[in-house]
Amino acid sequence: MRINEFRLERYFAAHEFKVRYLLSASDCEGLSLDELLGLADDETLALWRGLMLGYTESQGHPLLRQEIGRLYANIAADDVLVAAPEEAIFVAMNVLLQPDDHVLATFPGYQSLYEIARSLGCQVTPWSLEAVDDGWQLDLDFLQRRLTPQTRLLVVNFPHNPTGYQPAADALAAIVAFARRHGLWLFSDEMYRLLEYDPADRLPSVADLYERGIALAGLSKSFALAGLRIGWLATRDRDLLARCMAFKDYTTICSSAPSEILGIMALRSRQPIINRNLAIIRANLALANRFFAAHPDLFRWLPPRAGSIAFPQLRSHAAVADFCQDVLEKKSLMILPGDVFDYAGNHFRVGLGRRNFADALAALEECVRG
Ligand SMILES: Cc1ncc(COP(=O)(O)O)c(C=O)c1O
Repeated sequence: MRINEFRLERYFAAHEFKVRYLLSASDCEGLSLDELLGLADDETLALWRGLMLGYTESQGHPLLRQEIGRLYANIAADDVLVAAPEEAIFVAMNVLLQPDDHVLATFPGYQSLYEIARSLGCQVTPWSLEAVDDGWQLDLDFLQRRLTPQTRLLVVNFPHNPTGYQPAADALAAIVAFARRHGLWLFSDEMYRLLEYDPADRLPSVADLYERGIALAGLSKSFALAGLRIGWLATRDRDLLARCMAFKDYTTICSSAPSEILGIMALRSRQPIINRNLAIIRANLALANRFFAAHPDLFRWLPPRAGSIAFPQLRSHAAVADFCQDVLEKKSLMILPGDVFDYAGNHFRVGLGRRNFADALAALEECVRG
């Protein structure tokens, strides 16, 4: 298999653990093991203490899948396959697609959501978000215009990485209706779901809405537990799920035993964990609003609607990659340039989930003041 480099991951690999400040992390401030154990109930603490470190069930621990099922209206434990989030994308794309299939995918985006399809010999049409006055928008009519007889899969990601865009419920319903009308699979990356600033903006999962919908979710972002490497696919199509399970025999086979138990604890403490993360994001969002309002000539702030990231624009004539390189060298501050998404327009990503956001922003402030 030949696949292009994952540009965002290569950028993080080069800088993430060397710099003093990160302004572009997508996850929320990681929970400590102690914090998570402090939230656990007696049953999961007993599972933790008695844990045997052998292989685990390939589909995922039954209790973990049961807790995952509670996040959905129509998804049972048997409709879930546990895998690392990135792995789950890889598995699903390999199972869903054949060479020459056509794929429509929201863009810019997390690269594997379209790059794996390309590596399999598929044609990918990017469905681009557009920056508008108060954020971002998607043109729903685009889908009909770009549909071909080979179109097999539509890939969406809401809340969206990197823009923080979140469609209204009727727009999602129209997307589902389009997929249903044309018999398409609908792969919905819901990694940032539950991080809506206004609970009224929370969308139903595509796995609940559509019989050919496949939802990807996990504990890395909304649950602040990226180090567990726990995610899942949820779909009511049992045949598809069985094929994904069989494919997983060639990736990890099964998940890490400690991570599964810690994952059950996290899902059972969903509300306090989400509240903690939303509190961090809201406080950082207020700082970001203030910072960008103070620099209207230099930046165009495009406020996110949900999730832990935003994608503002650098207004200066300098290329955003050079700007990011400059702050990296001067302040040991890592900012992700829009180039790593192959997205033109001088955008850069801002991560709102970390506790030292104010310090990272202060370093940027010093830099732009010269
Ligand atoms: C939209 C999206 N999907 C999937 C993933 C993959 O998650 P993980 O890194 O936990 O495998 C990410 C991570 O950044 C993401 O932003």
